[in-house]
Amino acid sequence: MYANVLLIHNWLRWFTLVACIGGIVYAMKPAPAAAPDADGFELPGKRWDSYLMLAVDLQMLTGLILYFGLSDFTKVAMENPGMAWQEPSVRYWSILHAGAMFASLLTVRVARVLALHAPTPDLAQKRRLIWFIISTIVILTAIPWPFLSNGRPLFRF
Ligand code: HEM
Repeated sequence: MYANVLLIHNWLRWFTLVACIGGIVYAMKPAPAAAPDADGFELPGKRWDSYLMLAVDLQMLTGLILYFGLSDFTKVAMENPGMAWQEPSVRYWSILHAGAMFASLLTVRVARVLALHAPTPDLAQKRRLIWFIISTIVILTAIPWPFLSNGRPLFRF
């Protein structure tokens, strides 16, 4: 079970990164002209916002299963919270990785909500772009890349 969830969580990272790139590329496209009598406006590639939200939601779900059910690192942290700060690998998984990724889930939502409530398509695109870039930076820095001390393989089979 642990190995399977880790495998899914690992592969979902690539889905998340592709969705990040898709979201940024479409947020960079020129904003459409708003029809003066229309209630809202259609932003280019809006479905990529949904892909990105889905990706981080699924990461969250599988991350929570690992965190509260399967990972030995987080088990140690929950049994002995003081240890979470002292032991680098426990600190990484129980606080840094989970905390930063939770923050990325919030920034993706911020992008969506701010774009939805923007008064002009131009501003909506600008907000999407800024917040998708922030989300991507947070995700990229919190991924356990193989060259890091808590690194993990790029792919699992
Ligand atoms: C965009 C969001 C996320 C990405 C891209 C991501 C990425 C990853 C990757 C690549 C791994 C290594 C998997 C492997 O060993 O093959 C991992 C492990 C893990 N992640 Fe995430 N993660 C995300 C969100 C989360 C969240 C929100 C949580 C907690 C609530 C979480 C908790 C964990 C845990 C506990 C582990 C495994 C530690 C162990 O080996 O026991 N992740 N994550």
